Amino acid sequence: MPELKVGNSLIQVVQGDITKETTDAIVNAANKTLLGGGGVDGAIHRAGGPAILEECKKLGGCDTGDAKITKGGKLPARYVIHTVGPIYRDGKHNEPELLKSCHIRSLEVAVENGIKTIAFPAISCGVYGYPIPDAAQIAIGAVKEFLETHPNCGITLVRFVMFGNDTYIPFSNALTSLVGTEK
Ligand code: AR6
Repeated sequence: MPELKVGNSLIQVVQGDITKETTDAIVNAANKTLLGGGGVDGAIHRAGGPAILEECKKLGGCDTGDAKITKGGKLPARYVIHTVGPIYRDGKHNEPELLKSCHIRSLEVAVENGIKTIAFPAISCGVYGYPIPDAAQIAIGAVKEFLETHPNCGITLVRFVMFGNDTYIPFSNALTSLVGTEK
């Protein structure tokens, strides 16, 4: 399991089901309605129960690249941070900036809510079609940059929870390639 220490925080890549994570918060790869969907979004709403959807209905949707928080319902995690990744077209429609923003905004919302440990799925890497090695570099690079520039943010663990080898291997490689480059 690859790990990278950044100041007082740890970034990890693991394989598993994010709905079982015991971090303070898990991040949902949602859509702009925030009213549920397939993939990891469907799995989170199924495992967390209807209280999450009830709270989401009051949030008025979410822009691509932004993030909003609800409680975790029946999940082990106390909170769900819902973010909306870009739908990949050709990489020339702001997709890298928007994917980076998803991660930064999710971490900002986490810090505002006193969250210390957080788990991310591979945002945009399913039906939204982002090329996985590119998404891995952007996601992990964004988290590393945030932790380096916010050394007192209180976040101690950022765990990337990958469902299958299709994402586990590229995300692991992206993290391993950064070992030794931390400031
Ligand atoms: N735990 C961790 N990762 C998972 C899980 C799980 N339980 N289930 C799936 N994944 P996707 P997107 C992985 O399609 O591309 C939804 O309908 C999956 O293998 O869930 O951002 C939303 O409502 C993949 O690697 O999200 C949106 O409409 C990764 O999660 C749209 O899909 C992301 O795949 C968002 O598309």
